Amino acid sequence: MARRKLGVVKAIGAAHIMADKAKIAVLISGRGSNMAALLYASKLPDCPYEITLVASNNPHAKGLELAKAEGVETFAHDHKGMNREEHDMIMHDAVIKSGADYIILAGYMRILSDAFVQKWVDKMLNIHPSLLPKYKGLHTHKRAIEAGDDYAGCSVHLVTTELDDGEVLGQTKVKILPDDDADSLAERIIYAEHQLYPATIAAYVTRHQNPDWILDQVRKRALALEETLERPSFGTPAWRVGNEKSGKYFAYFSHRHFGENGISVFVKTSGSDEQEALLDADPELYFLPKFYGKSGWIAVRLDHDSTDWDHIEAMLAKSWRIVAPKRLTKLIDIANEF
Ligand code: GRF
Repeated sequence: MARRKLGVVKAIGAAHIMADKAKIAVLISGRGSNMAALLYASKLPDCPYEITLVASNNPHAKGLELAKAEGVETFAHDHKGMNREEHDMIMHDAVIKSGADYIILAGYMRILSDAFVQKWVDKMLNIHPSLLPKYKGLHTHKRAIEAGDDYAGCSVHLVTTELDDGEVLGQTKVKILPDDDADSLAERIIYAEHQLYPATIAAYVTRHQNPDWILDQVRKRALALEETLERPSFGTPAWRVGNEKSGKYFAYFSHRHFGENGISVFVKTSGSDEQEALLDADPELYFLPKFYGKSGWIAVRLDHDSTDWDHIEAMLAKSWRIVAPKRLTKLIDIANEF
């Protein structure tokens, strides 16, 4: 299984290893002040992303000049006279050519085709000047003032095929002042945008190393299995199947727990043959957990940035099956026969 190195400075004991940064392409249509904020944040030593390209549908976009002057690769292709899919494909190709893993929309004033959005699921972010889900679309500042809101603000969200509708990753509230008009409010919100966007992108591209995010991924998969509940074991989150009294553990989350380094999940195998086969197949992914290895558990590492979550889901389900009461597995066996 090919795996990239961890994306940022990772603390291992007292030592620090500087590893690959995430690569982002920023798409703009005009002024590009958010792009500038991202660019200058990327110059800070611990920033976990770098900009591989600033691209625009407007060859005269102001932001392009700045990016070029700062030595960032730029690309522009006018959308005029082109159909949407064709133009999107040209932008997509330029982004891919730059080596970017993420697309960051920063005042990119184009509605994107579904085909384009689908190529970048979970990999494309946008910043919007409102507290989403309020005021999707245009004239957000004016609408917030007219509604008599106390606060306006900005949101960073994942891009989906619905306009301004994807999961919100970060928000900053900005107080609306009594004398505000749309322009004065926009001027203040842009300060908040310039802080929010780099910080949110940094957290997002390193989410694979964030123990809380990783735990959530395990938790939602474990709890999706039938008759499961979470019950901590020796202070670590763990999941059981079966009823409150006689339920059995099928997964343990380990974050520097049980004397182990790093982050992993322990799941049950069918026994020592399977343990050995797994250790042979991928010694970087699996290891025998202290204390638990002897009774058939295997640890699966979760702290690299290319965890195959479908695989983890399958391992959890298998572990669940091994310990689940017969009355539950019987039904599944019958269902599988059909
Ligand atoms: C920002 O207000 C952003 O929220 C919206 O478009 C504007 C872009 O401004 N999506 P700039 O080009 O980054 O200065």
